[in-house]
Amino acid sequence: MPWHAIDGQGRFIAENWWAIVFNPSFPYRLAHMLLAALLGTATWVAGVGGWQLLRAPGNPRARLQYSMALWAIAVLTPLQILVGDLHGRHTLQVQPIKVAAIEGTWQRPAAGAGEPLRLFAVPDMEHQRNRYEVAIPRIGSLYLTHDLSGTIAALDEFPAQDLPPVPPLFYAFRIMVGLGLLMLAQGIAALVLRWRGRLLRARWLQRVSVGLAPAGFVAMLSGWVVTEVGRQPFTVYGLLRTADSVSPVAAQTVIVSTAAILVFYLLIFGFGLWLLLRLLREPPGAGESGPHPEIGEGR
Ligand code: HEM
Repeated sequence: MPWHAIDGQGRFIAENWWAIVFNPSFPYRLAHMLLAALLGTATWVAGVGGWQLLRAPGNPRARLQYSMALWAIAVLTPLQILVGDLHGRHTLQVQPIKVAAIEGTWQRPAAGAGEPLRLFAVPDMEHQRNRYEVAIPRIGSLYLTHDLSGTIAALDEFPAQDLPPVPPLFYAFRIMVGLGLLMLAQGIAALVLRWRGRLLRARWLQRVSVGLAPAGFVAMLSGWVVTEVGRQPFTVYGLLRTADSVSPVAAQTVIVSTAAILVFYLLIFGFGLWLLLRLLREPPGAGESGPHPEIGEGR
């Protein structure tokens, strides 16, 4: 059964929801999102554990919490980077405009020159070029095509009206990957310190972990920006434009229900966050059941 149909009035109708949910990008998204959720939790737990240890280095529960979270970061971050690479290579096949925008590739490089890795740039939609670009030659080809001179379709190979807004995509992707690399460094540092038996005494890593507490969450939000802004101006890539998408629900109802959800969420999550931060301020109590006091010095 095809997953969509065009009705008598030329309207695009979704028919097979199973095919839509389990579309070819499903395994990549599921794996990347699950790892993101686990990492979002791990960086937060490591941050809280680090903060507790800075105040009370001997607290056995804070030691366990910190140590376990850093194990999770050390194991899950390399996996996330691997899955992210597979995800990106799949996106290159099915949504090439998104990848060209992520990379800030306005024109294809000359034959043999390869794609650079653009560390920083200010993408200029009007003049279709990057300003203030800082790039390393060929490295882009390496991770995009696993070949030092491979190239990808450039933005000028697609109709101008099909391009997404490049700057938010370009920056959000760098924030996500940059934070992923910081988490990788945090995990490796923890492994080295653990190996030397100094994990729980290295106060600098506790401070770094406090700073990186929101890293997983921020990387997650940046990833969503990459995905959702990156498929604009389409609702269904290449088939249905966002501007042409309609719903039988009146605009007013959509606005009112969105506002209601927003207010409700702000209240619930605002209160939840306030409560959580209050709870986290308290060190794990003496009466709470927890690990044995002699959780090792370094391990
Ligand atoms: C460091 C290497 C990483 C790479 C190469 C990478 C790659 C990607 C790519 C290519 C996409 C967009 C795919 C698409 O929309 O077609 C994406 C989305 C996303 N990323 Fe990453 N990512 C990395 C790290 C992370 C980290 C560390 C997190 C969070 C902890 C994260 C969370 C997300 C989320 C939540 C999405 C949107 C969900 C989705 O896949 O649809 N990513 N990532």
